[in-house]
Amino acid sequence: MKQISTEKDLSTALASSIKSKKTIGFVPTMGALHRGHISLIETCKKQCDTTIVSIFVNPTQFNDKKDFERYPRTIDNDLALLKKAGVDFVFLPNEKLIYPKPDKRKFNFGKLDQLLEGKHRPGHFNGVAQVVSRLLEMIKPDKLFLGQKDFQQVMVIRELIKQLKSPVKVVVCPTVRDDENLAMSSRNANLSDEEYDEATFIPIWLEEVKKLATRYKVSQIKARIETLIAQREIMKLDYFEICDTETLEPIKEFSETDQAVALIAVFVGKTRLIDNVLM
Ligand code: PAJ
Repeated sequence: MKQISTEKDLSTALASSIKSKKTIGFVPTMGALHRGHISLIETCKKQCDTTIVSIFVNPTQFNDKKDFERYPRTIDNDLALLKKAGVDFVFLPNEKLIYPKPDKRKFNFGKLDQLLEGKHRPGHFNGVAQVVSRLLEMIKPDKLFLGQKDFQQVMVIRELIKQLKSPVKVVVCPTVRDDENLAMSSRNANLSDEEYDEATFIPIWLEEVKKLATRYKVSQIKARIETLIAQREIMKLDYFEICDTETLEPIKEFSETDQAVALIAVFVGKTRLIDNVLM
């Protein structure tokens, strides 16, 4: 595994792949790697000749400076995991390389950026779009591997790729869960034991939502989840919505859509967790 931290090294590394017409697969991450990230890498390795993973905690996508500072950083462990996973290149840019000057670009994702995560974390997706567009421009991969865990992020990045007229193909990989069914997340590392136990209710509730969908109205299901969370002392609901998978707009009746997705964001103590389930 080769570590790359300059644009020159990146071009040299990619040049050999391009010359021998090898397909390049790219997995962008912010580090603090876990099995969810590794599953993306495994899929990438199956589908592409060369696998490149980036680790960059992107400041422009954090609307809260404290959240950026609190974000877990475990580089030594990350590198060991990547090596074990058989990654070809790990790209470790510093801020100057990604943003030689402050990125003032404002993307327009319409409603997609005003709903759910977009509404609750203003500017977040603009920052994601800034870093992903820079990384795509530098790496020019054939395929980009993303997790369904960040459902809305996938939709935003697909729209970004359309706007950039980039030929990269998006591959979406299923959410990997731990033994308690909690969606793996770098942020889980910030949970105390008590908070972790509370967090494991999230997948239980989402499973319940799936069952309730056959018998109850959207409004009744929402009320049920809101009541359940209100009863938990160290949890605070940021949002729970049932949405159309095509537009991500909240629905009132299941009959409004072919496929619905339930999306949740909850604070467990200070840690904000998100999850979703297709219905
Ligand atoms: P990060 O949270 O590190 O996630 C990197 C990729 O791993 C994302 O595509 C995310 O959806 C996926 N992922 C995270 N947890 C997962 C899980 N439990 N199962 C499957 N996939 C999972 O998402 C970001 O970083 C950043 O916003 C980034 C796209 C790198 C831009 O900075």
